[in-house]
Order: sequence, then C-alpha cells, then structure tokens
Amino acid sequence: MKRACIVGYGAIGPVHAEALAGIPDVDLYGICDIDKERADKGAAEYHCKVFYDLDDCLKDEEIDSIHICTPHYLHYGMIEKCLVAGKQVVSEKPITMKKEEFSALLREFAGKPVYPVMQNRTNKCVTTLKQILDTDTELGKLISVKGIMTWHRDESYYNSAAWRGTLAYEGGGVLINQSVHTLDLMIYLAGNVESVNATMSNKSLQGVIEVEDTVDAFMKFKNGATGIFYATNAYGKTKKPQLELEFEHASFQYINGELYRDKQFVCRDDHKFSGKEYWGSGHGRLLYDLYANQKAFTVEDIRNTMETMFAMYESAEHGTTINVR
Ligand SMILES: NC(=O)c1ccc[n+]([C@@H]2O[C@H](COP(=O)([O-])OP(=O)(O)OC[C@H]3O[C@@H](n4cnc5c(N)ncnc54)[C@H](O)[C@@H]3O)[C@@H](O)[C@H]2O)c1
Repeated sequence: MKRACIVGYGAIGPVHAEALAGIPDVDLYGICDIDKERADKGAAEYHCKVFYDLDDCLKDEEIDSIHICTPHYLHYGMIEKCLVAGKQVVSEKPITMKKEEFSALLREFAGKPVYPVMQNRTNKCVTTLKQILDTDTELGKLISVKGIMTWHRDESYYNSAAWRGTLAYEGGGVLINQSVHTLDLMIYLAGNVESVNATMSNKSLQGVIEVEDTVDAFMKFKNGATGIFYATNAYGKTKKPQLELEFEHASFQYINGELYRDKQFVCRDDHKFSGKEYWGSGHGRLLYDLYANQKAFTVEDIRNTMETMFAMYESAEHGTTINVR
C-alpha cells in the first residue's frame, strides 16, 4: 500500500484526491498547499494530514508518492526535490515548463519514478483506437492527422490565479496548458513528429494575457504523414477536442467523445471516473492503473510531445520550420 500526498490543492488537486480516495491500493495520506485554507479544507474532507510546505512532506518518511498539482513554473524544481528525497512523483502537465528543464529531467533522472499525467490517453475511444492502429494490418499508410481544440477561457479564468496568462509562471498559453493533451493524442496515435511550422497569436485577450490564446501548426511525422493542429481559447464554448486520422484504406474520427471508422460508430468514452467532461475523466483511470496495476506512462513516453510543443514555440517565435529536438 503506497501513501500519497497531493501538493497544490487548487482546481486539479481535488480531482486527484477524489480519484485516490477510490483506489484501494493507495492511501491519501496528506494534502499540501501554501494556501492554508485550501489545504485545511482538503485534509478535513479526506481525514488526512495537512502540510503547508513541500519540504515538510519530503521529511515525512511515511510518504511514498507525491502528486504535483501546482502552477507550471514550480514543476521541475519540485520534481527534482522529490526525486532527490527518494519519493515517487506523479506530475501534472506540463511536466516541465521549459525545454532546458525537460532535457535536464531526461539527463539527470532517467529511469526514476516520475509519472506524467496525460490522462486522455486512457479514454475508452483512445485505447480502442490505439489497439486498432497497433493491430489492424489493412489500414495502409497513414496520410494525414488533424487535431482541433476550441475552448473558452475568458478574463475571469485568467484572473482566477496570478500565474495564469503569464510567460514567467505559465510559460505559454493555450498550447502548453489546454491543448497539449490534444497534441499528445495526435502523437500517441500517429507516431513521433519530425518537424513543425507553427504560428501563435493572442486574438481575444490582448492586454489581459501575455501568452497565446490561439495556435496553429503544420507537422511532418517521422512516418511520412502530415498533420494539422489548431487550438484556441477564444471560442465561445468549451468543446471536446476532435481528432481525425486518414489512412490509405480507412479514416477515423474522434468527435464529441465518440469514435467512428469510415463514418461507422465504434465506441463512446465512458465517465466512470471523476473529472470535468472536457478534461476527460481519465485521472481516475490513469491513477488506478498506476497504483493498482503498476502501469504508467513515463517521461520517455511523452518525450516527443514535449519536444514538439517546445519546437512549436520556437517555430512561432522565429517564423520558421523547426526540427523536433
Ligand atoms: N491534466 C489536466 O487535465 C489538468 C487540468 C487542470 C489543471 N492541470 C494542471 O494542474 C496544475 C495546477 O493547475 P490548477 O488549475 O489546479 O491551478 P490552481 O492555481 O487552481 O491551483 C494551484 C495550487 O497550487 C498551490 N501552490 C502554489 N505554490 C505552491 C507551493 N509552493 N507549494 C504548495 N502549493 C502551492 C496554490 O495555492 C493553488 O492552490 C497545472 O500544472 C495545470 O496545468 C491539469
């Protein structure tokens, strides 16, 4: 039985808590937040220990696993401290905010127990599609992939926490925060990306945020396929992301949480676990897999997603195509 502690108890920390409380193989041992009111409230609800400082969690030998649910700029430093202290780490996305931090994580901590939260990989439609792609020999060559995410994030969202919308603390906007999941699914399903050409803009929140609210990109995959990616926070509603994969002899569409093959219904995502509809309810499944089945995605598994994301920022900054890595 592992004992887990959640660090950062804002919007996503409670989703981890609810998921952990439903998994018999892990004990929600502690909740930590520098905001005492939030930490106290969570600890009271789950009858667990309360901490106000990560360093105190690290000193507690009872804790095996730390869930990092803090703002982006804190992720790498916290992961580093936890690993040095001999703890297992489950980290919210992005696992690091900066490219150099991601390289350092790969270099300094290869093989260490760090598990990124890319929970949409566990959606039923995604696991079903992945299995088809891995086993169906009749599909022919992959020609092209499309990923689209249109969400609504207005001024009140960005004002809800000081780190949001800032380059120094969020590290970017719709790409690094909201649509990295869509990018990750494209790569998880279609294979690794070789180069990207991206543009970014702030269409709806000029003067409010420093980061992009919209990104679009052309991608070349290592297997010869091409990709189109579009994501914005400027839409009037938050809709489920869409994916399309075009093969020589089949086409797949993942839309509104349903999977279609050549326009024929294949399956629908289920919502057995908690989580907002558009985040996916995968936190529960992902954490269940980790604690009950010792099955998890590793930093290496999300490497091309992270390197493609950083390459998109570089491409948009320089106005050129960037080779990934
Ligand atoms: N996987 C997903 O679908 C998903 C969804 C939402 C958020 N997230 C990610 O989760 C992370 C947190 O996002 P959020 O929306 O919950 O942010 P938030 O601002 O709502 O919550 C962050 C919490 O961290 C606390 N905190 C800040 N510094 C701290 C420190 N030094 N020690 C302990 N606690 C500290 C804050 O007080 C706050 O309560 C981000 O990386 C975000 O991208 C992931």
